Amino acid sequence: MILSPSLLCADFSRLADEVAALEAASVSWLHLDVMDGCFVPNITFGPPLIKALRFESRLFFDVHLMIEEPARHLHAFKDAGADMLVIHVEADCHAQRTLAAIRALGLKAGIAVNPGTDISAVRWLVQDCDMLLIMAVNPGFVGQRFLPQTLAKVRVAKAMLAEIGATHVLVQVDGGVCPENAAALVEAGADVLVSGSAFFGHKPYADRLKLFAALSRPQSRN
Ligand code: DX5
Ligand code: ZN
Repeated sequence: MILSPSLLCADFSRLADEVAALEAASVSWLHLDVMDGCFVPNITFGPPLIKALRFESRLFFDVHLMIEEPARHLHAFKDAGADMLVIHVEADCHAQRTLAAIRALGLKAGIAVNPGTDISAVRWLVQDCDMLLIMAVNPGFVGQRFLPQTLAKVRVAKAMLAEIGATHVLVQVDGGVCPENAAALVEAGADVLVSGSAFFGHKPYADRLKLFAALSRPQSRN
């Protein structure tokens, strides 16, 4: 299991220090939530902030684009230093073309589904992806309650990926992830867990990372 802490819950007045603390704690991924106030009701940050952090960090930048028409901004996020760009299937009626364009830029590509979107919506897209992001809350805000039906959705996604021979596609779960549901999510098949409010604010980060990792090991589920 890979833990990808969501920067949105970090201390925004000390971001460089926060990123350094994550690296010192042996975190490997950083989840960056880009919101446009249109696809979702909130506005966060864009390429300039990601670029500033890129100078400070070697973490894998997992960039979650909650924006309309993501294809218009791919170059900007590549130039900013993103490693993976995840677009929402609900935000792009030409998602296959956009995913191919992300890969053509040399980046990893991901497709995300909102809680109300069935996994079948990405049936013909996952072959062009490195990751499938299953939202466990309606995107837009941190600190929301985990939707329990996500567990079944992760199982359906894993079965679909196996059926079409795409088991190399990582399954990520984002929203309301916490120590109380991490083990069940990994058991259902989640490969990458995003955690915002249940990670930041719990220092030292190395201990928090160890807690999530321990919960995700099979023996902890007895
Ligand atoms: C929600 C974002 C999430 C969020 C996670 O719209 O996509 O990444 O920051 O925060 P928590 O873990 O607090 O739900
Ligand atoms: Zn996110």
